[in-house]
Amino acid sequence: MEGETHILLFAYPVQGHINPMLQFSKRLASKGLRVTFVTTTSIGNSMRPLPSHSINVDLISDGSEEAEDAESVDAALERYKLHVSQNLAKLIEKHYSSKYPPKILVYDSILPWALEIARKIGIDGVPFFTHSCVVNAIHYHANHGAIQMPIEKGASVSLPSIPSLGFDDLPSFLCDKGFYPAWLKLALNQFSNFQEANWLLCNTFSELENEVVNWMTSQQWPVKTIGPAIPSIYLDKRLEDDKEYGVHLFKPDVDACMKWLDTKETDSVVYTSFGSLASLGEEQMDELTRGLKNSNCYFLWVVRETEQKKLPPNFLQETSEKGLVVSWCPQLEVLAHKAVGCFMTHCGWNSTLEALSLGVPMVAMPVWTDQPTNAKFIVDAWKVGVRIKLDERGIATKEEIELCIKEVIEGERGKEMKMNSGRWKELAKEAVDEGGSSDKNIEEFVAKLVQS
Ligand code: UDX
Repeated sequence: MEGETHILLFAYPVQGHINPMLQFSKRLASKGLRVTFVTTTSIGNSMRPLPSHSINVDLISDGSEEAEDAESVDAALERYKLHVSQNLAKLIEKHYSSKYPPKILVYDSILPWALEIARKIGIDGVPFFTHSCVVNAIHYHANHGAIQMPIEKGASVSLPSIPSLGFDDLPSFLCDKGFYPAWLKLALNQFSNFQEANWLLCNTFSELENEVVNWMTSQQWPVKTIGPAIPSIYLDKRLEDDKEYGVHLFKPDVDACMKWLDTKETDSVVYTSFGSLASLGEEQMDELTRGLKNSNCYFLWVVRETEQKKLPPNFLQETSEKGLVVSWCPQLEVLAHKAVGCFMTHCGWNSTLEALSLGVPMVAMPVWTDQPTNAKFIVDAWKVGVRIKLDERGIATKEEIELCIKEVIEGERGKEMKMNSGRWKELAKEAVDEGGSSDKNIEEFVAKLVQS
């Protein structure tokens, strides 16, 4: 926690937001800043003491003990905002009157009201985007475009196509059933604060989204790519002292996964995970179990505890030869393992970025929010995956699943995807390396902070 220049980072307490912001915190600490990572008590006990002593972790109450069981995304955010805004203000004031008053609050872009709290106390706030730049550009258009809110699922909205992206069908594809209106509403209201921001920190790297980053810069957006925000050991550097992001909100079965993978041939395993939030319907789970069972690959499948009741009885016994089902795994170590030849993913942004950075081609099976957009880029722009086609029920059939896995693992296109994945892995490493695009942006951010 060295350094005279103190910075606070405040993350929304879900795995896909905590990971990149914690990683960015460690990166800033490795540049000599004094870093305090702030999140909320609901996940406090998962924040095992971070192996790296470089950052301080402060937890504030979020009233989660008062949460109703099935509260909606909006209701959860409202409840969260009510409790956290008071406690965040108190925390910032505490630090502000300490020996090292913080110079800035980096806040999760999904919590735009944090900016006002910071400014009231006298420090500036900078939004951190835990999704891709293209998704931010869509927010921009949604905010300035011709979208009448609220839109019904699948309704047609006229989004002006984002120039020079090379996708003239972007607006129409956004209307497919995967584009989640509640999320768009959420995205819209988080957007209003960013017009006057001095920095828009994005967990991506400019080479991956250069059309979009160039376009945003041409619109005078102060966008700064600082990713991939993953532990540097996976990018062949050792800036931090551990292989993990530093927190698992679910207990990973490390030994079972790594011992099982060690017994498998190179590129013989399809790793399947749908992240920390998405859940599949019974019908889709049934098709997925059959598709994995019939595919001619081994499979390592993450089925969170809450989802395991949807597995057909005896599935685990029947497939013990071919597959391993765990409730949570050390995903970075799994993706880095030579046995993993393909990642069947829901296309959450962190999973997408990790697969790109570790050179693993994908079967894209998006579920909601930004995932269809990420899937579109995985297949059409970055050319490192195939997209599962859904039938008229909106279900990926066992035949489709089998076909897509085979295509990536054995097909001609699979070889091209593997090659492209290796290329993105190289570019991700370069971006984080000294003098790389992301490293330069972080250096610039730190220098401006120290001088201010
Ligand atoms: C959420 C949203 O769903 C996603 O669309 C958005 O882009 C980010 O916030 P989540 O669904 O959890 O994220 O997916 P993802 O972004 O992929 O983040 C999951 C994280 O959990 C990754 O960092 C992954 O490495 C980690 N993970 C996942 C594990 O460590 N073990 C697992 O078994 C599965």
